[in-house]
Amino acid sequence: MTDAKLRPATDIIRQAKHLVAFTGAGISAESGIPTFRGENGLWNQYDPRILELSYFRQHAEEIWPLLKDLFYNVISGAEPNPAHYTLAEWEKQGLLKSIITQNIDNLHQRAGNRHVIEYHGNTRDAVCLSCGEKTALTEEILAGNPPVCPVCGGILKPDFVFFGEPIPAEAAAKALEESAVADVYLIIGTSGVIYPASLLPYEAKKAGAKIMEINPEPSEYTGKITDIFLQGKAGEILPVLQQNL
Ligand code: OAD
Repeated sequence: MTDAKLRPATDIIRQAKHLVAFTGAGISAESGIPTFRGENGLWNQYDPRILELSYFRQHAEEIWPLLKDLFYNVISGAEPNPAHYTLAEWEKQGLLKSIITQNIDNLHQRAGNRHVIEYHGNTRDAVCLSCGEKTALTEEILAGNPPVCPVCGGILKPDFVFFGEPIPAEAAAKALEESAVADVYLIIGTSGVIYPASLLPYEAKKAGAKIMEINPEPSEYTGKITDIFLQGKAGEILPVLQQNL
């Protein structure tokens, strides 16, 4: 990052009245969690159909072992990285008001953030496809194949959003609200292609927020609504911003 960008970027963050971060898989890449798209992205190796609700209903027994490998085992072995910790520090200082995340890995909370809006749900819980009961996905329940509901024995589905499912209502409402009140909106590590999450930065822009973006590659937002594009890895750029605040 050049000084020409560092100075205005730190000024904007320092003076923010309502800073909101909008994060995607890229912020957890340096924690060893693969992104979905791009060179080493999951969707280059696996058929995204495994996260389609109707397909999952028909093939849950086949898909669950894959979900354990791709998500649960990877996430349980991952630790927050300097990008997560910088956002936690900013929340503690009262600078960062909330994080809207598309991630299901819990790493923002583990780093210390409390105001996290989980737009795509999470891996902590599961929902029964038969009775609709929500259950904490303990190791014991997760050991089953497929994991089944402790109440009725029906097949469980992870409580994250599959393709074809609506966004959890409370998260959707809060995310819209935070996007509309932000005066600085920091987009980190998302390609910006998955609707409706992809619309949130446009809401912030419409409401007059300054849009900053951190990503090693240009995204759907770069050159369209981004005011300052900081090109590079989140785990490197965020600590530099922090040191210069
Ligand atoms: P993507 O995989 O689409 O995009 C990841 C972005 O992170 C890309 O723009 C990368 O350039 C960037 N990136 C890679 N390494 C990075 C680093 N070290 N620092 C910063 N950025 C980095 O992931 P998302 O945009 O999060 O949905 O994908 C959105 C949704 O698509 C996901 O939430 C998931 C998926 O299908 C559900 O699971 C419902």
